[in-house]
Amino acid sequence: MKSNIIIQKDKKQVIKICRNSKEFKKELYIYEKNPYFAPRLLDHNGTNTLMLEYIPGTPIVELIQPDFSRIAYLFSQLHALELNKGKRICLQDTNPNNFLYRNQDKKYFMLDFSEWEYDFPESDLIHFLLFWASIYPFNRFELIFNQFKNAYRLSLPINPIEWEMLLPEIVLLFDSRRIKFNKIQNPLSPDVNRNRELLKEV
Ligand SMILES: Nc1ncnc2c1ncn2[C@@H]1O[C@H](COP(=O)(O)OP(=O)(O)O)[C@@H](O)[C@H]1O
Ligand SMILES: [Mg+2]
Repeated sequence: MKSNIIIQKDKKQVIKICRNSKEFKKELYIYEKNPYFAPRLLDHNGTNTLMLEYIPGTPIVELIQPDFSRIAYLFSQLHALELNKGKRICLQDTNPNNFLYRNQDKKYFMLDFSEWEYDFPESDLIHFLLFWASIYPFNRFELIFNQFKNAYRLSLPINPIEWEMLLPEIVLLFDSRRIKFNKIQNPLSPDVNRNRELLKEV
C-alpha cells in the first residue's frame, strides 16, 4: 500500500518503486509467473523498482456495473497459481483500486501484489466482498454476491466451514482498517448489516 508510482502513458509503461525489498520480492514473484490477468512485467532493477505495462483502465469502483463474475475469475486464477499446504496465493489487499477494467478489449486486470500471502482463498473473497457489502443496497449486493461465488466455483471450490470460521475475524479486520485509514469515502449503505448477514450464506 502506497508505493511510489510513475505513470508514463506515452511510453505505455508504469514505474513502481516499492516501499521495501520485501514488497518488491512479493510483486516480482507474481509478475515473473507472467499471469495473463496482470500487467506485463517489462523490467526491474533487482532491488525495489518494477517497470510494468501501462493499463489504460478504469478502477472498478468507478464503473456503473462491474462484472463480478469476471472479477471472481481473476481471483480464481490467482488462487490457482499455487497450492501450498492447503493454502493458496492470496492478494490480501483486495481494495477495489487494485482492479482495472480496460474498455478497448473489455478485459479486467488485477494488480498490486505487494502484500500477497499464502492463505485460505476464502479470506480474499470475503475481504473483497465486504467492501461492496458496505456500499451496495441489499438487492444489488445479493445479485453480485451470487454472481461472484457462482463464477468462482466454476474454477475452484469455496469451503463453507473455512468461510464461516474466517468471516467474523475478517469483518473485524476490515472495520479496524477502515477506521485506521479513514477510508469512508463512499457513503455507507443503510443495508450494510443485512448484507453482512447474507455473506454468511455461502
Ligand atoms: N500497470 C498499471 N497500469 C495502469 N495503472 C496502474 C498500473 N499500476 C498501478 N496503476 C495505478 O496506480 C495505483 C497504485 O498502484 P498500486 O500498484 O496499487 O500501488 P500501491 O497501492 O501500493 O500504491 C493503482 O491503483 C492504479 O490506479
Ligand atoms: Mg494498490
